[in-house]
Amino acid sequence: MNTSDDNGPLPVKQDDLPEGVILRDHVVDGIQEYDQRLPFWWLCILFGVIGFSIVYWLVIDDRTFIGSEDTQIDRKLAAIETTRLANSIDVSNNELFWEMSANASIVAAGKKSYETQCVACHGTDLMGGIGFNLVDDEWIHGSQPSQIYVSIDKGFEDKGMQAWGPVPGQKRITEVVAYILSKNDKEQMLKAAESSNADG
Ligand code: HEC
Repeated sequence: MNTSDDNGPLPVKQDDLPEGVILRDHVVDGIQEYDQRLPFWWLCILFGVIGFSIVYWLVIDDRTFIGSEDTQIDRKLAAIETTRLANSIDVSNNELFWEMSANASIVAAGKKSYETQCVACHGTDLMGGIGFNLVDDEWIHGSQPSQIYVSIDKGFEDKGMQAWGPVPGQKRITEVVAYILSKNDKEQMLKAAESSNADG
């Protein structure tokens, strides 16, 4: 390997080059090196590819943003389950209401309706106000989910609560019942239902 020290005259000299073109002063095996900025288009491709590879890795490989296949499948199953429950409304089926009260999207929809239509009388935390408390163990008109459904459906016009059956209708009321149940303790409500049955 030769260095510039023991080399003969160099094939290219700085003085021969146009202005702005820099020649580095080391030589290896007779090979000289320019010291130039890389072309703009070349840098664009380099950093573009680096950026793309990071995004590709995060999105496709690491799945940080779109979730793993498992979570995607879980999400799809949850959506199918929600549709199944929403399409099988049997308002006399207490178990179905309890099942709905464990379904996050149905409860969220019920909460929304509650917050627009019921909150004024029954309070933000369902503790009551003008209307009854909906989270205590006293259910004047019945604590069975199907009875709560009827309370909302028919209302108590003479006591100041309208019938919600016509608007917003069955699906929305069912969701609200699910929301109310989700805020209650199932055992306590079943007990309340039993004692009211015993009372007659
Ligand atoms: C304008 C006030 C008002 C609004 C709005 C209202 N309620 Fe009521 N609600 C009442 C009153 C008053 C009672 C008590 C009726 C009675 O004295 O028997 C009641 C009773 C109830 C009961 C029976 C509770 C029990 O102990 O058996 C349920 C369930 C209920 N409301 C749910 C709802 C839901 C759900 C909504 C929203 C869709 C709603 N209410 C909107 C005033 C209201």
